[in-house]
Amino acid sequence: MSRKFTPFILLLLFAMLLAACGGTADEPEASDTDSADTAADTSADDEAMDEEAMDEEAMDEEMSDEAMADTVEVFSWWTGGGEAAGLEAMIEVFAEKYPDITFENAAVAGGAGTNARAVLATRLQAGDAPDSWQGHAGQELIGTYVAADQLEPVNFLFEENGWLDVMPETLIPLISQDGNIYSVPVNIHRANVMWYNPTILADNGIEPPTTLDDWFAAMDALQAAGMDAPLAMGEQWTAMHLFETVLLASLGPDGYEALWDGSGDWGSLEVTAALEDYAKVLTYVNSDASALTWQDASQLVVNGDAAFNVMGDWAEGYFREIGFEPNDGYGWTPVPGTNGNFQFLSDSFVLPKGAPHRDAAIAWLTVAGSIEGQDAFNPVKGSIPARSDADRSLYGEYLLSAMDDWANDRVVGSLTHGVVANDAFKSEIDTALGLFLADGNVEGFQSALVAACASSGPCQ
Ligand code: GAL
Repeated sequence: MSRKFTPFILLLLFAMLLAACGGTADEPEASDTDSADTAADTSADDEAMDEEAMDEEAMDEEMSDEAMADTVEVFSWWTGGGEAAGLEAMIEVFAEKYPDITFENAAVAGGAGTNARAVLATRLQAGDAPDSWQGHAGQELIGTYVAADQLEPVNFLFEENGWLDVMPETLIPLISQDGNIYSVPVNIHRANVMWYNPTILADNGIEPPTTLDDWFAAMDALQAAGMDAPLAMGEQWTAMHLFETVLLASLGPDGYEALWDGSGDWGSLEVTAALEDYAKVLTYVNSDASALTWQDASQLVVNGDAAFNVMGDWAEGYFREIGFEPNDGYGWTPVPGTNGNFQFLSDSFVLPKGAPHRDAAIAWLTVAGSIEGQDAFNPVKGSIPARSDADRSLYGEYLLSAMDDWANDRVVGSLTHGVVANDAFKSEIDTALGLFLADGNVEGFQSALVAACASSGPCQ
C-alpha cells in the first residue's frame, strides 16, 4: 500500500466509526450517503481544532519558557572578602536548582550595609524594589520595612518547607509581627568576638584577656613594648560595633537588654561607667581608623600590626579567604567581659510587595532557607546556619565553637546590625557617637544618648 493512500483509508475508517456510533446530541444524524462527507468535514474541523490547540500549547510553552527564563535581582552588601564568596557559594546552589532563572547580583559595597541601605531606601522610595534584599532580623526588619508595609508575609514558605521545625525559636519572634513571618533567615552571626594575633600574644607572654581590666593591662603591656595601637578599628560603624560590645561587657546582659526595652536608664551611673570604659578602650585604637574598612582593620591583626580587633565573625570568613589558618594566623575569644553571652544578628532575605519577579524571588528564598543553601553559604561566610540541622562536618573549628556557644550562651541582640534598635533610634545613637569620637566628651555623649532614647527609642 502506497503511503499516499494511508490518510484516506484512516479517514474512511474514522467515518465508519462515527457512523456506527451515531452523531452527537447536537449534531444532525448523518445519512448513509453523506456520512463520508460529514466525517471528512468533521475530521477537517477536528484537525483545525487540533492545530489551534497545538498553537495554544506552543504559546503556553513559550510563555512558560519566558517565565522560566526569568531573572531574580537580589540586593545585599556582600561584595568584600569572605562575604562575596559566601554569596557566590549560595548562588551556585541556586543555579543548580533553578537553571532557568538568571541571578542578578545587585550588591552595593560597604561593610554593615552603610552605603547599600541608603541606595535601597532610594530605590524603594522610587518604587524600584529589587526582587529580594538582605535585611537584619529584629528591629531593622520590623521597625523599618514591615512598619512601612513594604513586605509580603512568608508564612507559606515556612509551612511548605517545614522551616518552623528547624529554625531557632528565639529567631521567629524577631522576624514576625501579628502572626506573620516577614523574612527567611540564612544565618546567625556573632558580634562580640575579639580576634587576636596568637604570635604577638605569645611573644609578649599575654593570655587572651577575659575581663576588661585584663584587656587594659594587656594593651598597656603591648604599648610599653612599643606597639602604639594594639587594638585595630575601622570606619564609624565599626566604632559602634565596638561600642555595643563594651556596653555588654560593662553592664552585663540584663543591664544591656534594659537599654533597649525601655526598662533601663540611659542616664544612670552604670551607663556613665560603661561610657568611660569605652572611652578608655578607644585610647588603644589606631589613629587612622576612620579611613579603614572593617577588612583593613581585621587585616592589621593577621599582619601583626595590631594585637586585637573586635569584629563580627564575618572576619573569620575573611581571614580564611585571604589564606590564614585558625589558631595560627588568628585566635578568638569573646570580647573581654562578655564571656557566656552571644551577641547575635541574623541576615535574612525578604519578599517585597510587588516584587518584579515574584516567582523567582520565592525560588531564591527557598534556597536561602534550605539546608543546601545554608550549608554552602555559611562555612564560607563565617556564620553558623540559622537552621539547627546543619551538617557540622562542613564547618571549621571557629564555627563549631560558635554553634556550641549559640546553643549554650545567653543570647542578646546587636545594635549595629539591626536587632535591638530601629533605624531612627540607631541613627540618633550614631550621630551622638560621631560627636563623641571627635570630642571624647563622655558627659555630652551620655546626654545625647538619653535624648535619643526619649525621641526615637523605647523611652518615648
Ligand atoms: C553585617 C552583616 C554581615 C556582614 C557585615 C559586614 O551587617 O549582617 O553579614 O556582611 O555586616 O559587612
